[in-house]
Amino acid sequence: MATTLSDKLIIFDTTLRDGEQAPGIALSPDDKVAIAHQLARLKVDVIEAGFAASSPGDFEAVARIADEVQGPVIASLARTHPDDIDRAADALQAATRKRIHVFISTSQIHREQMLRMSEEEVLQAITESVTRARRYADDVEFSPQDATRTHPDFVIESCRRAVAAGATTINIPDTVGYAVPSDFVALMQRVYSEVRGGNDDVIISTHCHNDLGLAVANSLSAIQAGARQIEGAINGLGERAGNTSTEEIIMAVKTREDYFGVEVGADTKEIFETSRLVSRLTGYPIQYNKAIVGRNAFAHESGIHQHGVLRHRETYEIMDPTAIGHASSIVLGKHSGRAAFADALGKMDINLEDEDFVRAFDRFKELADRKGEISEEGIRAIVSEKAGVVTDTMELVGIHFSGGNQEIPIAAVTVRRNGDVLEASSEGDGMVNAAFAALQQIFGIQAVLLDYRVSPLTSGADAMAEVNVIIQIGSETFSGRGVSTDVVEGSARAFTAALNKAAVGRSAVASDQETD
Ligand code: KIV
Ligand code: ZN
Repeated sequence: MATTLSDKLIIFDTTLRDGEQAPGIALSPDDKVAIAHQLARLKVDVIEAGFAASSPGDFEAVARIADEVQGPVIASLARTHPDDIDRAADALQAATRKRIHVFISTSQIHREQMLRMSEEEVLQAITESVTRARRYADDVEFSPQDATRTHPDFVIESCRRAVAAGATTINIPDTVGYAVPSDFVALMQRVYSEVRGGNDDVIISTHCHNDLGLAVANSLSAIQAGARQIEGAINGLGERAGNTSTEEIIMAVKTREDYFGVEVGADTKEIFETSRLVSRLTGYPIQYNKAIVGRNAFAHESGIHQHGVLRHRETYEIMDPTAIGHASSIVLGKHSGRAAFADALGKMDINLEDEDFVRAFDRFKELADRKGEISEEGIRAIVSEKAGVVTDTMELVGIHFSGGNQEIPIAAVTVRRNGDVLEASSEGDGMVNAAFAALQQIFGIQAVLLDYRVSPLTSGADAMAEVNVIIQIGSETFSGRGVSTDVVEGSARAFTAALNKAAVGRSAVASDQETD
């Protein structure tokens, strides 16, 4: 069979699976669907929507994405267990194009310490699981986990077994971020020639972690060895130090097409928005100097650089910020009305149903009255604060403080539910803490604050801030977001959103029990 190497590089995004494994991230199925729609607008080729067998929440997210998101192939991860593969297939049923991604560890340390399986048992599990997955999908990916610490001969043997059983993509994970570009290329070359051989139906892929800061470099180096799929996550999210950053791969390959000689189908204008959405919903801030999407990525500080860029942008910029969707001119003010707000949402490709539109518009007016102007990023934050707000929940209407400085702060909080006004006050060791305590009294819920982040959306004395919280109640976690010009109010809004989710979860359980 003739070997033709395609020029197309497949972008496989795992923000919703490996990215979500980053500590402290707890995306709801609604958040995941919103990110998946945005990834489809970015035109990635494959979305790994989750690990269907890992939890009911993951199953629901994969199933909803399979049903609602069109364009990319939708994938679910699965261990080699038959039940995992059946769950993945079930969740993916509605997808127009689906992929089951089967993995098993192959390194000696993982086999002996975690799996307690011999090489022969691992090989047999590969054959059985890939064969089973092929009964449900034509598109099956296989990954030998911890490949870069596995003896290369066993990597090759495992992958050959997978191909013989019907795998169409062979993905080589650098699970612990151990590889360096030259040895990774050597391994990938062997996989390319000894596993793919002349079989044009098999795609060779990489999945690199960033423990040594080499994930992107290793992934790119694999292109020269024949890899035609790269797995990554937006903003480089993922286990520990994260994964290859999807946006860095897209822009490296586009900017240095002369060197890499491969094409990607991504719509780069969606990169900036995708990055901001993922940051907002995960609560993970973006490092200021992060390549491509950091706020300084196109900022020039020194006079010489500024002078050069003013004369000719390309003196110090190798990418056009507008090609990444960086520059935005949307700004609304306190005099902007419904039509202007609707127009701005339209330009941002945001569709809100009637009630959500009214809520978002009211909140916009409230903030614009205090702040004057609201930028595109502020509008997006307002919309995502309001998105997913469930009716019949509590709405924060007021918060007042006494004490402070030398005295213990006391927060008096007022919320409304369906016209009823409820109030509580509580002291705390700070204003945020007092507000949280008062809200817990109103909801009648005891929660632990697991994570609390404040991100500035704009600068200046009247800056808007977004607050993201994760609270824990028993073994469950709930996230909430709040936006305000006042950090304490933003925090109280974020707590209210998280407590509302918890309260809705509880009443659902209670009514399930009533009907049992
Ligand atoms: O890092 C890894 O090995 C993985 C596999 C499941 C592909 O995430
Ligand atoms: Zn991984």
